[in-house]
Amino acid sequence: MKKKYCIANWKMNQSVEDCENYAFKLKSSFCKTSSEMIVCPSFIHLSKIKDLFGDLEIQIGAQTISEHLNGAYTGEISVEMLNDFNINWTIVGHSERRQFFNETNQDIQNKLKIAVENKINPIVCIGETLLERQNSKTIEVLKEQIQTTFDSINCSNIKLIIAYEPVWAIGSGVTADLNTISETHEEIRNILSKIISNSEKVSILYGGSVNPDNCEKILNLKHVDGFLIGGASLDPEKFLNIYRKMN
Ligand code: 13P
Repeated sequence: MKKKYCIANWKMNQSVEDCENYAFKLKSSFCKTSSEMIVCPSFIHLSKIKDLFGDLEIQIGAQTISEHLNGAYTGEISVEMLNDFNINWTIVGHSERRQFFNETNQDIQNKLKIAVENKINPIVCIGETLLERQNSKTIEVLKEQIQTTFDSINCSNIKLIIAYEPVWAIGSGVTADLNTISETHEEIRNILSKIISNSEKVSILYGGSVNPDNCEKILNLKHVDGFLIGGASLDPEKFLNIYRKMN
C-alpha cells in the first residue's frame, strides 16, 4: 500500500492570528491515522507553525525553495535554511510558480535536485492548462514535465510525492471529473514507471478544488493517493473533515 497524504497549501494566506486559531482547532480535534497530514504555510510562518503544532503528528513543508544553496539571491530561501528549522518537505513546481514567476521545467529540475541532495522531500506538481487539454496535449505536457524534471535525478533516498493539479481546476470550483482524474493518474503512473526506479512507492495526489463533498469519490479512484488542497485547507474544520474521510 502506498502512503496516503492530505496536504494543505496555504499559498499567500493566513495571518499570525489565523495560524494560532488553526493550531488551536487542530490541537482539540486532530487524531493521527494511517494517512499523513502536511501543512505548507508561507515561509514567514513556518517556524511559528512548527512551534504551534508542537508534538502533533503533522508535518510541515515549504511552498517552494531556491535552486541555489546560498549567495546573492535576494528574497530567496534555501534548503539549508529549511534544514536549520527541521522542515523536511517542500512543494516544487506549483503551477502558480510556473505561471506567475516563470519557472520552467529546467528550473523545477534544479530545485528538485537541490531538495533531494539535501534530504528535503519534494511534492512535485504537474498539470496541464485548459488549452492544452482542449488540444489533446495533456499526456504530452505531463510527460515532458516529468521527463525534464526527473532527468538524471536519483530519488531513491527520499519520499517523493507527485501532485497532479490540472491548472484549470485550481481555485476555480471546477473539479476534474472522476474519469479524467482516473485516466490521467493511470497515465502518470505509467510514465513514472519508465522514468523513476521504485516508482511504485511514489504517491500520486490530486489537487484542484477538492472539498469535503467531493473528496471521497476522488479518493476511491484506484491511482489516487490523497490530495493537495488550497482553498479548503484554509479552514481547519474543512481540512480535518477531508483528512478524516481518507480513513
Ligand atoms: P484549490 O484547492 O484552491 O483549487 O487549490 C489547489 C492547489 O493549487 C493546491 O496546491
